[in-house]
Amino acid sequence: MKSKQSLVMEPEAMSMIEKNDLKAREAKAIIQTYARQDVAIVRGSGVRVWDSDGKEYLDFVAGIAVNNVGHCHPTVARAIARQAERLIHTSNLYYTENQVLLAEELKALTGMDRAYFCNSGAESVEAALKLTRRATGKSKIVAAERAFHGRTLGALGITYKSVYREPFRPLNEAAFVPYNDVEALKAAVTSETGAVILEPVQGEAGVYVADAEYLRAARQICDDRGALLIFDEVQTGFGRTGKWFGKDHFGVKPDIMTLAKAMAGGLPIGAMLAAGSVSEIFQKGDHGSTFAGGPLICAGALACIQVIKEEKLVERSEEMGAYLKSQLAKLAARQIRGLGLMVGLDLDADCKSLVEKALAKGVLLNSTGEHTLRFVPPLVVEKEEIDRMVSVIEQSL
Ligand SMILES: Cc1ncc(COP(=O)(O)O)c(C=O)c1O
Repeated sequence: MKSKQSLVMEPEAMSMIEKNDLKAREAKAIIQTYARQDVAIVRGSGVRVWDSDGKEYLDFVAGIAVNNVGHCHPTVARAIARQAERLIHTSNLYYTENQVLLAEELKALTGMDRAYFCNSGAESVEAALKLTRRATGKSKIVAAERAFHGRTLGALGITYKSVYREPFRPLNEAAFVPYNDVEALKAAVTSETGAVILEPVQGEAGVYVADAEYLRAARQICDDRGALLIFDEVQTGFGRTGKWFGKDHFGVKPDIMTLAKAMAGGLPIGAMLAAGSVSEIFQKGDHGSTFAGGPLICAGALACIQVIKEEKLVERSEEMGAYLKSQLAKLAARQIRGLGLMVGLDLDADCKSLVEKALAKGVLLNSTGEHTLRFVPPLVVEKEEIDRMVSVIEQSL
């Protein structure tokens, strides 16, 4: 029987496997690296997703800051479908148009000079680390406490949580300094430092915003000591913070920027952007990846950028982010932090159980710690949807 089951879902089908069966099969077939919520998502549209029983949820997680234009935006879905009928893949042995068009868009949006494409956030960080090594000849990296840069070996070494790093030593580990502490940064960056890497807003940590003074000082310290400044904008990119990129709040230009997550609305893509002479350092053969910058993914990314522009989602992120914060202020919060629709909330409650209760009430939430919720909804979120989410938290507390 099993061998006769189709592996291609019929368009009208909600799901092919009942949830408990799916969970049991997942446990046997998938290497168990993820702690999942008790729900199987089968469909999405805008700010909403549906599970395998047809139940609707408001999505304030957005694939972890990925679905900025909303789930299955018709412009993006159409662009992907059209490109899929034209050319899905051909490799970087050849020129492809979408890759160049996307790089030009990213240059115009960021003020950086050249792009290197890859397939994820961690890969964009890996590329930044390799470029640092090639450009400076130095391997020492200074990163911030609470930082998250990914889980591949290079990115893991500069990710702060020691429980993530511990089982995988030896790693090339960063010198970690307290975030927003200029003096600590001054003390840590030496002539042997290859780069300082910072998130303009720390996401996985629970949403901590950089001080403008701190990022300006970081730029100066790097210049003085001959180190590169890398901004990891994997989570803060593409309108998430109420500007196109997190750096735009601070008027500081890095040497290298890393991007991923929302870039292609859910298709796997990443990019490392470099400025000035640093963008000319990599030589042919220095780095590469089979799928990187492929025509299908880049078509998705170009469509996402178009939607963000046409629907003014950057401005919307700022406006709705302010509304979200004003509504969260009604809860007994210890602290509310964030920029645009990237908001962290500290509560005296057990946030893990709060997430489960909200799930039962039809709202997807994400906790980044015992007492912290992170809100990163699609930028198309409406006030009424924010109201409903906040009232679900109120009821669940
Ligand atoms: C700032 C930052 N950098 C890097 C990463 C790693 O990205 P990915 O999960 O796509 O490898 C993340 C993921 O959450 C991130 O938030």
